[in-house]
Amino acid sequence: MDKIQELKAKFEPLTIEDIKQIKDNLISHNIPLFRVDNKDGSLKEFPTEQLSLIVENPKYSSMILYTPKNFSLFIKEFKEMSSIQTNNNEKTSNGFKTPKEAEKEMSKRIAEISKMTYKEKVGILETYNKELKEVKLDEKDVMSKNAAQQIVDVGNDMGLIAKVTMFESMQKIKEEKITKDQAKIENQEITETTTELVSTIVNMLSVNTETQKVFTELKNFSDGGVMSHCNRVFVSYVNFLAFYNNLIKRRHLVPTVRSKFKETYKKYYEKIVDDNANNYRIYGGLASVEDCIDKGIKSIEAEEMYLYSVGALLHDIGKVKDLDYFEGEAGRDYERIKKHLFNSYKLVSQTSEYPLEVILTVALHHEYYGLGYGPYIDLYKLKAQKYNNSFHISRIMSYDAKSIDDCEAFAYFPAKMLEIIDVYDALIDPARKYRGGKIFTPEEALNIIKEDFIEKHVKLDPILYDVFVEFLSNAVEKDLMYAKL
Ligand SMILES: [Fe+2]
Ligand SMILES: [Fe+2]
Repeated sequence: MDKIQELKAKFEPLTIEDIKQIKDNLISHNIPLFRVDNKDGSLKEFPTEQLSLIVENPKYSSMILYTPKNFSLFIKEFKEMSSIQTNNNEKTSNGFKTPKEAEKEMSKRIAEISKMTYKEKVGILETYNKELKEVKLDEKDVMSKNAAQQIVDVGNDMGLIAKVTMFESMQKIKEEKITKDQAKIENQEITETTTELVSTIVNMLSVNTETQKVFTELKNFSDGGVMSHCNRVFVSYVNFLAFYNNLIKRRHLVPTVRSKFKETYKKYYEKIVDDNANNYRIYGGLASVEDCIDKGIKSIEAEEMYLYSVGALLHDIGKVKDLDYFEGEAGRDYERIKKHLFNSYKLVSQTSEYPLEVILTVALHHEYYGLGYGPYIDLYKLKAQKYNNSFHISRIMSYDAKSIDDCEAFAYFPAKMLEIIDVYDALIDPARKYRGGKIFTPEEALNIIKEDFIEKHVKLDPILYDVFVEFLSNAVEKDLMYAKL
């Protein structure tokens, strides 16, 4: 690709007139800007805070600046905001928030929820459920943008209610006001209504895979905070599961994976066994997909989808502040990063009676096939002790929570699905300064994942990665991806 084409593909041009209109927002949101260097045509970063210097200077009136395409929605939103502001001359709240505004709003909502009675919290969840059930799809079964926004809002609030409730219970347990078992009983109704509400959302998103496209726009709205991350991951996760099931129903995925297994996938599973030889004894007879994945590639029942999706919603619930928590920046506090996983896992397993499926999805979302962190190693050590090391983990992956708990399989299918969505979200979240403030386009993010999480080290599942590429090419931009299953 030549430079001009590359520019067009990845960046949106902004004229000085555009910039004048939205300058304050560009600065306050610290949107990355670039200019073309006259000497060699390369792209140079333009310090956003210096915009004022060029907009008033006629010398620069024909200058063009560029912003990465994943900020297009921000630009659009800023333009809308500025036209509304000139008409009304007052700030409107239209869903877009800076990180600070979002934090303020979240603290306000947390304070409100904290004051609610238990009954009120349950009541809100029930009302959301009723409202969502009344949402109608259009004649092609596609969801409207408003309905998608409604799901995003419900997801956010449902996550916050769960978070506040669990933190409060944990506090009471610490102060010995109640026991863990009492906390579980106390929270039973919220656990049930949350699961019902998630089920409603799963059903709504499973109707039509076209629905995913409605969310790609909304997904880009980010304040970089952990709760909006959880919610974005939740919505993408449900869409991803629905897409996966759909690929199987069309009788397409299972035979493709089988026929590609020996040539394409086998080597990765062998590498997983080798890479983990020091810590785990995994059975190495990997002649077919079914040897690697218990029952092979299969579709997910609705009941399981509900539980996996609750896990996705709650996956980072114990993370208090936003952290860059996996690969990347040097000097990060790894122990603190690890803690978010155990906090989330502890909150979910000790203050509520969610089934094992939910707990394990939360607990195992950073295992990365033995190269990450999480509680699996402890389960394994217990079992190894009991059997005097005379047992093998018989499968690489399983759909069955019980067999993970018994160390019969090395990885849990819903957690492997979640890992992919989670890593991808961290890479494309425009409000998250990852890897030195760089933000990636979907294509770049996929390349990074392929290289760092599949080729160099097998951290993510290679089959599910390919399904994910297909999923994105369906949900984001049609000709963005060429890798096809
Ligand atoms: Fe996490
Ligand atoms: Fe996460």
